[in-house]
Amino acid sequence: MNVEASHIAKEPKRPPAALRVEAGRPLIGEIGREGGLALPGDKSLSHRAALFSALAEGESSIGNFLVSGVTRPMLAALSALGIPWQLEDGTLRVWGCGLNGLMTSSSSPPINLDCGNSATTLRLLAGALAAWNGAARLDGSPGLRRRPMERIVQPLQEMGVAIQSTEGHVPLLIQPSPRPLRPLHYTLPVASAQVKSCLLLAALAADGETTLIEPGPSRDHTERLLRAMGVPVDERPLSSGGSTTGSRLISLRPPIGNRLRPLQVYLPGDLSAAAFLIVAALIVPSSHLVIYNVGLNPTRCGLLDALREMGGDIQATPLGEQGGEPWGSVTVRYSPLHGIRLGGEQVVRMIDEFPIFAIAAACAQGETQVRDAQELRYKESDRITDLGHELRVLGVDFEEHPDGFTVHGGHPLRGGVVEAHGDHRLAMALAIAGLAAKGTITVNGAEMIDESFPAFVPLLQHLGAHVHLITEQ
Ligand code: S3P
Repeated sequence: MNVEASHIAKEPKRPPAALRVEAGRPLIGEIGREGGLALPGDKSLSHRAALFSALAEGESSIGNFLVSGVTRPMLAALSALGIPWQLEDGTLRVWGCGLNGLMTSSSSPPINLDCGNSATTLRLLAGALAAWNGAARLDGSPGLRRRPMERIVQPLQEMGVAIQSTEGHVPLLIQPSPRPLRPLHYTLPVASAQVKSCLLLAALAADGETTLIEPGPSRDHTERLLRAMGVPVDERPLSSGGSTTGSRLISLRPPIGNRLRPLQVYLPGDLSAAAFLIVAALIVPSSHLVIYNVGLNPTRCGLLDALREMGGDIQATPLGEQGGEPWGSVTVRYSPLHGIRLGGEQVVRMIDEFPIFAIAAACAQGETQVRDAQELRYKESDRITDLGHELRVLGVDFEEHPDGFTVHGGHPLRGGVVEAHGDHRLAMALAIAGLAAKGTITVNGAEMIDESFPAFVPLLQHLGAHVHLITEQ
């Protein structure tokens, strides 16, 4: 690892910070034009592109790679595993060691990998280590230790992987196991792209075809990227009695010669980051925003569909594909919104967007109800209880359900002091609420925003928003 790499992979000390936000001018401008401020590269794709490149043989190049709190542990893990990489002007280059090239043996002690706050790093690494037959102890922050891990451990064990959790949580210990692994035929109990991706990576080392059934269309970046690297992966919706069930069947065969082709990609901007700006433009009168180079993978576009159904003036224009991923531009104008009902597979296609969706719901006339979304309780915070608690501070009429929430919207938001609960998306959503509130909103714990969207504050300021970061030194 070169000096630059060790410097980037190390988490810089983040002092506690608060954001102070006031309503003000309309948000007007363009983002992602040549030379101007741009969206961060997609978080899910950054994780995958870095790790999959390490599994490939040869040099990969990944443009617009996201360097942030959640991707640093992935880069640090690659270094700890002896995979060279280099980052220059936003392009990550990785020299992959191939599926059979990881230098660990059954006698070497497990390598300690600290995944920080990042469940994607942890769950994807577990699958890759199973394929590599590596030995590692995977751990993370107190927040990560709260999140459920049996969902990957049990099916990996079924494949013959020697992996153990600590009472269903991290630390996880993974050790070399007899080769080849058994192909898996498995129905995921919840639609989760992290679980699916972990199992598909392990399946690269199985002696036959693995088939997975998932109960909803979770993001399919792993399938698309692996296909671009020469791995035979198929996906199709399942139907019964002539109509689709919402479930999907994914099958993967290990590649011929056990080889993955290196990647040459430029990543699209993160639609989950754009979501905050899109909702901001919808709720601040007279706003008009154009965002260029945004990922438009249909399994991520649930929020756009929901906001349009609420009356939002949003145009998404697909312009091309990179590494099998569609991208394009999004234009959004201020719009009076009305409440809707959401459930089923649409929840899966917008699983990260509920904190900001709740702000749109609070500004919409009438009732918005979200069901089938119990997974929200297992994210960086409990995105039902914690979100509801903070929104009530701002005067929102928020009703909690075991699997979702109801917001009775259209009443003015008031100012107040709210907490991020260690959750980057809660921090950003609450900040956006401040752009439409009657008083000043202060968001404590705003240092978490650096997890996924380090340019959040400068971008909002560039669009004319009154947002100030207050850092305690
Ligand atoms: C992700 C999958 C989702 C999402 C997370 C990123 C991914 O998690 O919430 O932010 O990159 O695969 P689940 O798979 O747990 O739903």
